[in-house]
Amino acid sequence: NFYVVIMAGGIGSRFWPYSRNDRPKQFLDVLNTGQTLLQMTANRFRSICPPENIYIVTNSTYVGLVKEQLPYLGDEQILAEPVRRNTAPCVAYAAYKIRQKNPDATMVVAPSDHAIFHETEFVQTIQAAMQEAAKGDKLITLGIRPNRPETGYGYIQYVREPGATFKKVKTFTEKPQLELAKTFLDSGDFVWNAGIFIWHVSAITSAFDKHLPELAEIFEDCPDCYYSPREEEFIRSAYSQSKNISIDYGIMEKAENVYVVLADFGWSDLGSWASLHEIRQKDGSNNAVDGNAVLFDVQDCMIKSDKDHLLVVQGLQGYLVAQCDDVIIICDKDDEARFREYVNEVKAQK
Ligand code: GDD
Ligand code: MG
Repeated sequence: NFYVVIMAGGIGSRFWPYSRNDRPKQFLDVLNTGQTLLQMTANRFRSICPPENIYIVTNSTYVGLVKEQLPYLGDEQILAEPVRRNTAPCVAYAAYKIRQKNPDATMVVAPSDHAIFHETEFVQTIQAAMQEAAKGDKLITLGIRPNRPETGYGYIQYVREPGATFKKVKTFTEKPQLELAKTFLDSGDFVWNAGIFIWHVSAITSAFDKHLPELAEIFEDCPDCYYSPREEEFIRSAYSQSKNISIDYGIMEKAENVYVVLADFGWSDLGSWASLHEIRQKDGSNNAVDGNAVLFDVQDCMIKSDKDHLLVVQGLQGYLVAQCDDVIIICDKDDEARFREYVNEVKAQK
């Protein structure tokens, strides 16, 4: 009765120019392991459930990439979204599909673009959470100990009950402003939401009924159209009516039956070039080099090139130097806000 849903529809513009709109980071070998992030994510779950219970939800333009990278999946396991509407419709779609197949399913919903360092601990945590979620109506999240006032994450405050593995969540705050994030961090009462959720299909369906009733209704049921051409039409029409909202804002911030497991499996959401630099192996001068480069007096840099280009770099400190296809970017590695600004500007011009 265990199912896995991998969300793979994001565009990941923070790894530009390595990630592009037509091949976002989940489809790239970001960690240089010979596998893309999507392949690594799917593999991680292969001991949780049989491969036929793994579903990938992605934009229809990426279906070809998913098939290429996960050839063992059947066509019906790739759920194509006609338009991008963020993660709440994505979860509603997957829940609709899975409850038709098995109304007693327990599912884990996971992003496709994260790094997990200790797989055994990860699998143990997910299995325990699935067994707990299978019992009833808990919406289970995984909490990561925070180490900086990151504003791109959800913050979870939980009831302190010594010994309880599944801790009752008091508040869930998605992407707080910096001041609030600092307060959360200083209080020591909060963990980051890892973005991985575990619940029984009936629990998430009830949560949609209660907190996003319009979406619940849209994805309620399509009688007789299960795996038939009519279903495509049903999904197209469902997406055209769906609002754009994430599961975090739409459900997690509002639901009262949310629980958190403190996770200790080593996690990075690979949210930026700097975070990639952080986890990659470095040379003696703290440079992470991916590709072909010769460095002179270079420190603390992230260097990336295609295999058939040679980068020669001298005298830089704390920079990103990335050559991908027809683009070269040389910029401050750590100024994420500015990075987003100029990348958006450049993309708008192209
Ligand atoms: N199918 C589909 N459709 N997938 C999507 C869509 C969509 O429209 N939008 C995003 N995704 C996928 C992304 O590819 C990613 O794997 C996952 O859903 C999460 O989306 P992000 O856009 O990366 O979310 P986030 O990073 O801003 O925030 C979430 O993750 C944080 C941890 O990394 C939230 O859950 C936060 O609370 C959390 O802290
Ligand atoms: Mg993310």
